[in-house]
Amino acid sequence: MLDSLGMFTTLLDSSNQIKAGKEIAKDALVKHKKFDVGNIENAENIVVAGMGGSGLIGDLISAVGAFDIELPIHILKSSSLPAFVSQKTLFLAVSFSGNTAETLIATEEAKNRGASIVSISTGGRLKELSKNQGFLSIEINPEVSSPIPMPRAGFFQMAAAALTFLTEVNLYKNNHLEKAVPHISKRVEELATERSSAYNLAKDLGGTIPLISAASGIGAVAARRLKNQINENSKTPAFFSEVPEAFHNELVGWGVQGDVTRQVFSLVTLRSDFEPSGFNLDKAIEVATEMQEEVVSNCFKVSAEGSTALCQLFDLVVFGDFVSLYLADLLGVDPGPIPAVDELKSRI
Ligand code: PA5
Repeated sequence: MLDSLGMFTTLLDSSNQIKAGKEIAKDALVKHKKFDVGNIENAENIVVAGMGGSGLIGDLISAVGAFDIELPIHILKSSSLPAFVSQKTLFLAVSFSGNTAETLIATEEAKNRGASIVSISTGGRLKELSKNQGFLSIEINPEVSSPIPMPRAGFFQMAAAALTFLTEVNLYKNNHLEKAVPHISKRVEELATERSSAYNLAKDLGGTIPLISAASGIGAVAARRLKNQINENSKTPAFFSEVPEAFHNELVGWGVQGDVTRQVFSLVTLRSDFEPSGFNLDKAIEVATEMQEEVVSNCFKVSAEGSTALCQLFDLVVFGDFVSLYLADLLGVDPGPIPAVDELKSRI
C-alpha cells in the first residue's frame, strides 16, 4: 500500500489515541493551576473553533453534547466570531498544527472579548499565544505508539482531550470514553483484515462518487468525516447531506437527470441507534432510498455498532476512515499528503 506518511498505521492506533487524549487533558488541568475554572462555571455558551480535521471536534462536541451538555454550543469554522461571544463564553480553539489562520484570528478576537480560552494543539502559534496569555493549553502528543502524520489522523486524541476537559469542568457528565477504548480496539482489528466490510465498500463503490447520507446528530458528524476523509485521503469527490432536512429539498433534485446520475453517484447511508426520535425516520429513509435506487449506481447501508452514542459515532468514524484508506489504495493514491490544501494555504 502506498502510504508515505503512515496514515494506515496511525489508524490502527486509534484506541491508544483515545487513552492519550484523556491523559493530556487531565495533565493540562493539573499543570495549569492558574486556570480560572470560576469563569467556566459562569459560562453561558460554548464556542468550538477549528478548521478541517480539527474543525470536526466542534461537530462532535455539539452532537454528543446534545445528550447532556446544558449550554448552547456553537461550531465556528471561520475567522469571524458571532456577536454573542463575551466574557460569558467558553472558547475552545482546536488546531492540530496550531498555525491555522482562521482559528488564530478567531482566538485573538475571543481574547479581546474576554472569553475563557482553552486551546488544543501540538504547538505552533496557538500554543505560543496560549502561553503568553495564560490560556489553558492542552498539548496533543504527536507520537503516541505511532506518530500522527496529519491533523485529521489525530481525530481520536483531539476528541478524547476535548471531551475529557469538558467532563473535568463538569459540563459533560455522561462521558463514555472508557467504553469506547475496547470497542474501537476490537473494530480496528476487524476492519484492518483483508476483505473486511470497509474494504468491500471501498471496492463496491467502483469508481462512483459517494453521496453520504445520515440522520442529524452523531450520524451527520460521521457522514461529514467520511466525506472529508474520502476527499483528503482518497483524493476523490464525495458529498454528504443530513436527513430529515434533505427529504425537503435534495430528494427532489433526482427528478430528471437519472441517466447521468446513475453513471456517477452511489448512495451510502449511515445509520445509528441514536437518531432523532418522535418522527418516523426509519420509514422516511426506507422510502427515500427506494425513490433514489433508480437514479444512482448503487445504494449501501452502514450500521453503527457499540452501546453508547459516543461508541457508535467513533465506530462510524473508524469504519469510514478505513473505507477512505482502502479507496486510496485501490486508486493508487498516497493518502497522507494534501497538496491542494498546502497550495491554497501558501497562496493566500
Ligand atoms: O486534515 C487536514 O490536514 C486539514 O483538514 C487540517 O485539519 C486543516 O487544514 C486545519 O489545520 P489544523 O488542523 O492544523 O488547524
